[in-house]
Amino acid sequence: MINGEAGVAFIGSGSAQVETALSNDMLSRVVDTSDEWISSRTGIGQRHVANGDESLAVLAAQAAKGAISTANLTPDDIDLIILATSTPDDLFGTACQVQAAIGATRAVAFDLTAACSGFVFGVVTAAQFIRTGTYQNVLVIGADLLSRWVDWEDRTTCVLFGDGAGAVVMQACDRDRLLGFEMHSDGTLNGCLNLAYTAQSVPLVDGVTAQKGTFTAITMNGREVYRFAVSRVPEVLEKTLFHAGLVASDMDWLILHQANQRILDAVAKRLNLPAERVVSNMAKHGNTSAASIPIALDEWVRMGKIQPGHKIAMSGFGAGLTWGAVLLEWGR
Ligand code: COA
Repeated sequence: MINGEAGVAFIGSGSAQVETALSNDMLSRVVDTSDEWISSRTGIGQRHVANGDESLAVLAAQAAKGAISTANLTPDDIDLIILATSTPDDLFGTACQVQAAIGATRAVAFDLTAACSGFVFGVVTAAQFIRTGTYQNVLVIGADLLSRWVDWEDRTTCVLFGDGAGAVVMQACDRDRLLGFEMHSDGTLNGCLNLAYTAQSVPLVDGVTAQKGTFTAITMNGREVYRFAVSRVPEVLEKTLFHAGLVASDMDWLILHQANQRILDAVAKRLNLPAERVVSNMAKHGNTSAASIPIALDEWVRMGKIQPGHKIAMSGFGAGLTWGAVLLEWGR
């Protein structure tokens, strides 16, 4: 650490799910699919789906409160809230609604959009504010309601995604527990995974046309995204470990974005990590985008599996395309 800079600690976690779970069997009444196909190709058994009355802000606030309370802080202690989401309640941003809902009156709050890499990118962004001494306590939330934007007639995508929220509190400290990070983007592959805006021209006066449109349901080239994930994710983890002077076997836990069990297995095999160290909860939640890593982290912390001092490697990947990794040591 350079003189005058602070280190980063990861001191609390929380998560929240909407109540309704949609099992693979239930989904097979909506589209032509089966529990056997979904389970064997993805490892997903069910996903949570928000009803018309549920909001991203309320779910994110619930996860945030859990993280603040396990960090033994109060909302007033929080200086900055970063809400990683691609499915805001309000395109102007939803982080301020979360700030109001939890009563974090001192905190500045903004949204960050990097799809399923959003939580990892949010943690890295938060660390910059802490390391420079700008902020003491930062709340990073990953929350998404992708069920709002799936095409429930498209069996190739609607079986994958679900809703949820997870959060961590990061705090300034003497010894830096953020051991390394990497972030990447490749916009040439943008067309592989989209939740795109489409518009029609609206004539206003002679020579002036505005546009009016909406976002259309998620489209995905599953095979391309799969190929991208199994090549880029091990690569970014190996690079991050190398720069931190660590090797994969130094890691107690690997928490990957919960997209597909086959992706998790392929990455673990490449890193030579035993299955017991690879966190997997997609059977319960499906792919919850920016929420998937912090939900998995929180569940493993609450079960007592992740303990203070444990080293954790995380990697998020998805639309953009974007991908990244964070290595950290859990606890104060
Ligand atoms: N139920 C039953 N059959 C289905 C199906 C479903 N839900 N979805 C697709 N199929 C069919 C296809 O139509 C195809 O049939 P065909 O051979 O008669 O044409 C067959 O299953 C195989 O499809 P394919 O796309 O080759 O399957 P796959 O083994 O590549 O698995 C994914 C598809 C989506 C599970 C896989 O590509 C994947 O996980 N990709 C990564 C996606 C991802 O993680 N996205 C998010 C990143 S953040």
